[in-house]
Amino acid sequence: MAAAIHPRQLRVEYRENPLGIDVAAPRFSWLAAAANPKARGLRQTAYRILVASSERSLRAGSGDLWDSGKVASADSAQIVYAGKPLVSGEAAFWKVQVWDQRGKPGEWSTPAEWSMGILRPEDWQAAWIGRDEPDASQPPDRRLPARYLRTEFPVGKAVRRAVVYYSGLGTSELYLNGTKVGDHVLSPGLTDYDRRVLYVTFDVTRQLVRGKNAIGLILGNGRFYAPRAERTRSFGFPKAILRLDVEYQDGSRAAVVSGPEWKLSTHGPIVANNEYDGEEYDASHEFAGWDRAGFDDSAWEAAHIVAAPAGVLAAQMANPLRVVETLHPVSVKLLQPGVWIFDMGQNMVGWCRLHVAGPKGARVVLRHAETLSPDGSLYVANLRTARATDVYTLKGDRAEVWEPRFTYHGFRYLELTGWPNDSAPTTAALEGRVVHDDMQAVADFSSSSNMLNQIHRNVFWGIRGNYRSIPTDCPQRDERQGWLGDRSQVSRSESYMFDIAAFYSKWEQDLADSQRADGSIPDVAPTYWSLYNDDITWPSTFLFVPGMLYDQYGDRRVLELFYPAMKQWIEHERGYLQDGLMPKDQYADWCVPPEDPKLIHSKDPARVTNPTLIATAYYYHLLRLAARYARMLDRPADAAGYDALAEEGNAAFQKRFLKPATGVYDNATQTSSILPLFFNLAPPGNRAALLASLVNNIDHVTHGHVGTGLVGAQFLMRTLTENGRSDLAYEIATQPTYPGWGYMVSKGATTVWELWNGDTAEPSMNSGNHVMQIGDLAVWMYEYLAGIRPDPANPGFRHVLIHPYPAGDLTFVRASHQSMYGKIATSWKRDGGAFTLSVAIPPNTSATVWMPAKDAASVTESGRPTARARGVKFLRTEGDSTLFELESGDFVLRSK
Ligand code: BGC
Repeated sequence: MAAAIHPRQLRVEYRENPLGIDVAAPRFSWLAAAANPKARGLRQTAYRILVASSERSLRAGSGDLWDSGKVASADSAQIVYAGKPLVSGEAAFWKVQVWDQRGKPGEWSTPAEWSMGILRPEDWQAAWIGRDEPDASQPPDRRLPARYLRTEFPVGKAVRRAVVYYSGLGTSELYLNGTKVGDHVLSPGLTDYDRRVLYVTFDVTRQLVRGKNAIGLILGNGRFYAPRAERTRSFGFPKAILRLDVEYQDGSRAAVVSGPEWKLSTHGPIVANNEYDGEEYDASHEFAGWDRAGFDDSAWEAAHIVAAPAGVLAAQMANPLRVVETLHPVSVKLLQPGVWIFDMGQNMVGWCRLHVAGPKGARVVLRHAETLSPDGSLYVANLRTARATDVYTLKGDRAEVWEPRFTYHGFRYLELTGWPNDSAPTTAALEGRVVHDDMQAVADFSSSSNMLNQIHRNVFWGIRGNYRSIPTDCPQRDERQGWLGDRSQVSRSESYMFDIAAFYSKWEQDLADSQRADGSIPDVAPTYWSLYNDDITWPSTFLFVPGMLYDQYGDRRVLELFYPAMKQWIEHERGYLQDGLMPKDQYADWCVPPEDPKLIHSKDPARVTNPTLIATAYYYHLLRLAARYARMLDRPADAAGYDALAEEGNAAFQKRFLKPATGVYDNATQTSSILPLFFNLAPPGNRAALLASLVNNIDHVTHGHVGTGLVGAQFLMRTLTENGRSDLAYEIATQPTYPGWGYMVSKGATTVWELWNGDTAEPSMNSGNHVMQIGDLAVWMYEYLAGIRPDPANPGFRHVLIHPYPAGDLTFVRASHQSMYGKIATSWKRDGGAFTLSVAIPPNTSATVWMPAKDAASVTESGRPTARARGVKFLRTEGDSTLFELESGDFVLRSK
């Protein structure tokens, strides 16, 4: 009899077959797939991993790099390589075998592979090239023309393997023999280039030809050459480093590296580019064949050897940005003679591909905006200094197709001018290219509420639109920064939309890179805007993210790696304590719904939460979190220290803010009740009064609407739901009137706004696509409405807590989550007095499920008493719920 499970989707460091990674001990993960999808109780009891230096030895069953041996373990994620040390450029091949719950061994998996990047700086043997000066013939501009680099090299023998490693700053595209290498866009990922510079790796074996070969590299400005009037750091002129390793069939090797024999031109078709203002492309400047052998580059200058960026070269380990989807405009309208307005039907992020025909020299201008003014023209006031304008100059071919490379825009509407022929443009003139980090989308939620479904969609589009290798605040105006505060709990919400494990591991490194020697963590990272305010709230993300990665993905390494830096930050902030209170707070409960529809920040003291209350509550909570991490990492003395300090903080907090007569804190805003409730700061005897005050505020002050800003919104939905008020959470979530996510929907929003009053506020800080106010909304949808929650004691969804909270008039909710252990799905419906819950638990996991039922006898599974159902075990009753333990499989539970 065959084994009941077999391994599939083999991943190394979260990716399938990654190339050019640079961790010494990579981690392996796989899914245990069921041979029979109907089976229950499937488990892995052991595994064996083989890693070989060639495909052939792997096939022959030799693990010459590592043979884990048979390991009795149910782990199928985050298994750490413990084989021979790996060297630069080394390729490794691996497979895994698993034993099922009966101890039966399965077939070996399909082989997978990975390769190492360049592990030591001296292994590059290549120079940084470019030109560290502006282009004399061009006026100084914040948008240099793109720099084109090229070289040729011979290949005289049959090639076994060719791998290219390169970094082109700010952003670059590589071409080999006339074809683009890979499909990354806006590559490499953003970092603080003074600390770290990412390179990417591609296998180009199949792109090489016998004889002469040519490499072409285009450099855009990105965030490296980024002069802007205000604040923004700029690092220097665009530059690149490249190494191409060729291994011949006969075992000999050769390398092509960037150096002084490369040629450079600044007179190519990309005449201007940057991320904010747009790209200008003159097709009549194209160098036909520049990226093929034999091109006459005698008019090009020699590339200069330039100073290396100060940062260390590191492999890009997260998924690249790609064009992930193409949208078609829903309409095009003539606004006035020669001015056309296109509507993409969705506030999206990326750019447009243009289809046009006309005479050489004709200029088509595309301007982008999120909304329209009442007269139908583009509304660009909220873009601030971002010009968001792409220009294409035709070369005069019969049909020209163009899209920019080194810019991106946040937009729903486009203004097209300069259409070069008599017939009007149709919607076919443009395609919307949706661009972001290409992570697996896992979002899957629907319910009986159309409003909730549309809100979920807006959240999804808002989140995807703010991935630009860092999580940004917004994608449209002249900002687009990695603001820490915007992501504190939103990152947990995001984990239900995309597989963000590698992405957030990378950003955590960015945060650590931004830490000052004294321990200070800034509010923005990478620090393109340098803001070291020593706040608690914004930098708290530095502590929240590792916990999120641990709970959601079972990732311990990020915690281990950054624990010392977190500890240092806590110590640093500790120096600011005054009588146990933490006075450091810059932004307070950022952007609460203001009293006047034009205002950005409320001036009403009754809406504003005391900043010291916020910072002290947060600091207390972070100490508890740090104590948890310290215990996990076996540092009991640290944990005891954090706990003791938390006790002191708690006492000071009560003394300063608690109103003993009423049990509320300070001025009793929603946020000043939410934080003590969620952080468990409120003494048990006070919780009821505090909750009553929060509910009273929602009922009578904000009339069933949200009354928080960024800070309160991170915990709002969970606080209400966990305290028995899922009805109120639902009411707030779906309100069609101001303020709330539903209000945005009722105003036609297709993303989430920066401001609750985003339709009326003045434009200086009013983005139509911000994630910060999403807070824990998506956490609530997936973990509470659908009831799919990780179990911190068995992280990465290895054991799942299934606890749906039916709310309001919802008659059904259906959702799933694709976890490290496979897809977990729930679907419940209410009809009459009955509650039916369908659950899918993937192999090698188990779940505790809460059913609304007074005892086990009132619950059936697939029509049978639960006592007789396979894979179902009664645990206990808890209030109005009856708890069961489920093994893997599909179940239908029903209670009356
Ligand atoms: C950003 C926010 C950020 C805030 C903090 C704004 O300009 O867009 O997302 O958190 O500033 O000051």
